[in-house]
Amino acid sequence: MDFKLSEEHQLVRQGVKEFCEKYVSPIAEEVDRDQRYPAEVIKKIAEQEWMGVYFPPEYGGAGADVLTYVIMLEELARACASTCVVVSAHTSLASFPIYKFGTEEQKQKYLVPLCKGEKLGAFALTEPGAGTDAAAETTTAVLEGDEWVLNGSKIFITNAPVAGVLIVFAMTDKSKGTKGISAFIVPSDAPGLVIGKHLDKMGIRGSLTSEVLLKNCRIPRENLLGKEGEGFKIAMKTLDGGRIGIAAQALGIAQAALDESIKYSHERVQFGQPIAKFEAIQWMLANMALDVDAARLLVYRAAWNYQEGLPYSTEAAMAKLFASAAASRQTDNAVQIHGGIGYIRGTKVERLYRDAKITEIYEGTSEVMRIVIANGACNGNGR
Ligand code: CAA
Repeated sequence: MDFKLSEEHQLVRQGVKEFCEKYVSPIAEEVDRDQRYPAEVIKKIAEQEWMGVYFPPEYGGAGADVLTYVIMLEELARACASTCVVVSAHTSLASFPIYKFGTEEQKQKYLVPLCKGEKLGAFALTEPGAGTDAAAETTTAVLEGDEWVLNGSKIFITNAPVAGVLIVFAMTDKSKGTKGISAFIVPSDAPGLVIGKHLDKMGIRGSLTSEVLLKNCRIPRENLLGKEGEGFKIAMKTLDGGRIGIAAQALGIAQAALDESIKYSHERVQFGQPIAKFEAIQWMLANMALDVDAARLLVYRAAWNYQEGLPYSTEAAMAKLFASAAASRQTDNAVQIHGGIGYIRGTKVERLYRDAKITEIYEGTSEVMRIVIANGACNGNGR
């Protein structure tokens, strides 16, 4: 067992950190304020080969490991949680299922442009009546000749307004429950695909989220992903990996809250001394450092299990549950340490406070994480 990052991983962190200082941080406040998708930064991220960082080079990826991906997401979130989730949803939720379950033709046609960053990916599972109860899908897919015809509506779809490829889940046989759900690769220019209302979010406002409407949406027969009826398992397996990405995002947010709090508490003078000299603040900083470190250990362990081919569903849920709660706790502390200034729009900790909350909700709520952990713990889950 080795708790030290390899020299290569340390270099990755340094490289992404420098990239973020140059390109991501300077526009983070503006993209949040204006709900602006940071297209120019995503283009630069693609130039670094980070839009498909852990996929093999033959599919346009950089061939790095999962820990590299996690460190990259952590550093992106430390600078801008919106930019982080654009990359995370694209990679973990759209590219991964094609890589894992797609045919060679699907990989060449869809995964390669996703990994190269020529197209952005989205994952359309959630519906107005199917959130945590993901099996309650009402979107349908019917085979008509050589085409699937999809009808229904999806909601809260990250990246949808700017996506080129969407992974869409739909019922192909309602009588079979979870085994009646199938997954489809839907290009954004498919006839009948309509990007619906843009949603005005509390946080991660630079990442665009919208409804997706399927109105007799027609896609070729060969765009079925995996086998018919395998969609629910594809969604669950995909979300297992996605949750490591969100845990890394939460870790980056918590780290940023700590960074800002250390800086401010050494600058801010009250009663004749920097507030960092007061025990009340020191205890808050100590708790923050502890939370960040514990979250990092859980997130890196989940990434390591994934990389090593070990079970990671429970580990991913543990990492997401802990890191997201840590992000919420510690952004709250960061605002408290900043006092009045922390409550003002445009202050980084105010943005972090709003950004943190979603990590306890999307890609499975904290309550779902507990269900997954309980199921894993009861079954042993290889640990
Ligand atoms: N991997 C593979 N298979 C899995 C699995 C996994 N992780 N989890 C469950 N399955 C399988 C089960 O083994 C079972 O298969 P069998 O019938 O063959 O035994 C089948 O799937 C059904 O499993 P359950 O009975 O456990 O299913 P359930 O309906 O009770 O659901 C749940 C369980 C954990 C609550 C699940 O519905 C869930 O994870 N819900 C949350 C969904 C979610 O995360 N939504 C977020 C959407 S994405 C997003 O946030 C938007 C974005 O763009 C960022």
